[in-house]
Amino acid sequence: MPFAPSIEDLRQLAQRRLPRMFYDYIDSGSWTERTYRANTERLAAIGLRQRVAVDLEGRQVRSTMLGRPVAMPVALGPAGLAGIFHPDGEIHAARAAEKFGVPFALSTMSICSIEDVAAATRSPFWFQLYLLRDRGFSASLIERAKAARCSALILTVDAPLLGRRYKDVRNGLSTPPQFWRPRVALDLMRHPAWCLGMLRTRRRTFGNIIGHAPGVKDLSTLTNWKNLEVDPALSWRDVEWVMRQWGGPLILKGLMDPQDIAQAARLGVAAVVVSNHGGRQLDGAPATVEVLPRAVEAARSVGAAGQTGPEVWVDSGIRSGQDVLKMLALGAQAALVGRPWLYGLAAQGRAGVDRCLQILAEDLELTMALCGCTSVADIGPHLLVPGTHPA
Ligand code: FNR
Repeated sequence: MPFAPSIEDLRQLAQRRLPRMFYDYIDSGSWTERTYRANTERLAAIGLRQRVAVDLEGRQVRSTMLGRPVAMPVALGPAGLAGIFHPDGEIHAARAAEKFGVPFALSTMSICSIEDVAAATRSPFWFQLYLLRDRGFSASLIERAKAARCSALILTVDAPLLGRRYKDVRNGLSTPPQFWRPRVALDLMRHPAWCLGMLRTRRRTFGNIIGHAPGVKDLSTLTNWKNLEVDPALSWRDVEWVMRQWGGPLILKGLMDPQDIAQAARLGVAAVVVSNHGGRQLDGAPATVEVLPRAVEAARSVGAAGQTGPEVWVDSGIRSGQDVLKMLALGAQAALVGRPWLYGLAAQGRAGVDRCLQILAEDLELTMALCGCTSVADIGPHLLVPGTHPA
């Protein structure tokens, strides 16, 4: 198995291993992909202050998320279809996160089901919910997450409608995928390892939904159902409804605007994820790092009565431990990654997700040290070059 020194190496390996239709699904953004590119470019433009002659003994990257200890302040964010990139993909990712000591979030649109992941792991994981028009089915997903010992629920609010992703349209990536197109069929033949893996997979597709949602028996019934049932009318009242149904820590994902973050804080959510869905939704939205300082300010200023406000986490564009450090320096308490672990999974299965986590942790620790910092609690804007970062 080739050694991958960086997330970029994992990306290149994933590109070689996956049929183009599925690689493009991971590695693309909506419309012109301006926001998708801005996420990484804006992070790269932030300078780090090089400091010397600091005692670096005993440095470590441990932290907490929702009051629980984590090996580093990074979680594997929810990603639909992970089990398509590698058989049992979500199980591999959940096990890698468990071993490493960081949280894993299972998407509503995962291939392995909530129950599959619960049976394969011992630590609690998080479940990500897309609110569906069918409140009965939404409530049943929440109940399944409770029964599976999920320790937090992520409600994703930035995708009531799907951003236009031209690459997916051109590649014929729909449900079910258009494998019969000559270009697609030829490309599949060029990726026999992936095809063999898929043939061997025992998992049922979209395990949270098929066989559970009313009338959804297979992929083609799912297509109609999904288009109809993701609720475009989601409102703050619905967020409160989800909070009541769940009764545990709720994480709201996909907030960019200080007003929205203030509203989430007033409702008393446990955490918000500043996210533009990795540039897959509103093209033209700013990079998340750009809005992060204002988001942190908004969350702190409007905590629920007597509380400090929700934890502020961030994702979109993080490709190294250096990027994690920059986000923490601008006030995030933790970061989520999406594509980095998907690249690892697609490239090398479980070993690739392990490697992704290792790279992020080693990079974070080393970068902290070269900035003269020995613990996550000491990370702050003083580690960044003035004038190169949003304030
Ligand atoms: C996602 N994302 C996502 N988010 C979510 O809440 N539910 C989901 O099912 C998915 N599915 C999904 C699939 C794929 C292929 C990608 C790349 C992303 C968004 C994800 O959780 C996260 O917000 C972004 O991926 C973060 O950006 P980076 O780390 O990928 O740059």
